[in-house]
Amino acid sequence: MEKTKIGLIGLGTVGSGVAQILLDHGDRTARQAGRVLWLEKAAVRDPKKPRGCDVPDGVLTDDIDAVVADPSIDVVAELMGGVERAREVVLALLNSGKDVVTANKALIAAHGPELFDAARAAGRTIAFEAAVAGGIPIIANLSQCLSANQVESLTGILNGTCNFILSKMHREGAPYADVLAEAQRLGYAEADPAMDVDGTDTAQKLAILAHLAFGARPDWRAIPRTGIDTLDLADVKMAQELGYTIKLLGVAELTAKGLQLSVGPTLVKNGNPMADVSGPMNAVRITADAVGELFLQGPGAGQMPTASAVVADLIDTAVGRTRLTFQTLKLWSAESDRTPVADP
Ligand code: NDP
Ligand code: HSE
Repeated sequence: MEKTKIGLIGLGTVGSGVAQILLDHGDRTARQAGRVLWLEKAAVRDPKKPRGCDVPDGVLTDDIDAVVADPSIDVVAELMGGVERAREVVLALLNSGKDVVTANKALIAAHGPELFDAARAAGRTIAFEAAVAGGIPIIANLSQCLSANQVESLTGILNGTCNFILSKMHREGAPYADVLAEAQRLGYAEADPAMDVDGTDTAQKLAILAHLAFGARPDWRAIPRTGIDTLDLADVKMAQELGYTIKLLGVAELTAKGLQLSVGPTLVKNGNPMADVSGPMNAVRITADAVGELFLQGPGAGQMPTASAVVADLIDTAVGRTRLTFQTLKLWSAESDRTPVADP
């Protein structure tokens, strides 16, 4: 059977999950891709660090350039996180003729136009299903399954760490700081967890979804946002007494003035499905003119749900589906812009 050689940049929470699927379930990926997805190299900072998966000898390297320069590698998943170094690495990968898969929403939100222009210029692709809402196939839904629609509004719980914290505060009366530490231990939080709790991560994801759903190009930094870092148990208790659950929501709404965007803790009436989304879960409600209303729910953070999305992107890239979809959509180019962003 033909082989597509895969490189990974990063073998932490998500990267180890991806390696685990590639190494333990080669039969499954081969069936889906019609070819073997072969883990050729994985770059890390410290190759001596214990990994959550059994990596064959010769795969680990501390030299990212060894992955970039390996002509046998076809597709590389960038799973190192961060923005500026990740940007350099992704540009180098594209320019060396490799297709890229990434889970890095901060990178796409900051440098989407430059990266997608570079990919088009190099005749390569970037797939990013794992960058928003973890295991929920929201990118595929917006870019493919809902393409007959004009999306009218999109509301999401887009950060698993915050939803985990809020759920534990509501259900167990657990203190904010203790649950945040637990979310970090469980691998849900960003390397800098301030990005989760201050609403940054939600704003970055909302900016990406706004582009796919509405053809808008918001600067995530300009999206009005409040995090959950100012909430305490008294706020949660008060909401409960009034019959509400507090959720950190990202909201995008098409109005006569353009696309209105916001991120903030919101009182959701108990009984609304959004109020029941609990733990490190995400949910997205979409209203659109043809389909009506959709509610998608699933794991929004964590090793294997995220790895599930990354490996699906690796398969789609290996078989050419990514190219087919994103070639026509021309993401983050002038041709894909169709909705202005309203003033906050
Ligand atoms: P981790 O911190 O667990 O892993 C990062 C990995 O990248 C590590 O293996 C690290 O090496 C490696 N790395 C970092 N910098 C360098 C460098 N300069 N050179 C070589 N290797 C480097 O992060 P996560 O796996 O949690 O997250 C990865 C990406 O996925 C991020 O963009 C994140 O936002 C995104 N994401 C994470 C989710 C989650 O639930 N955790 C969910 C969805 C997206 P070493 O191990 O040696 O330190
Ligand atoms: N830190 C992020 C979250 C990871 O908690 O949602 C998934 O993007």
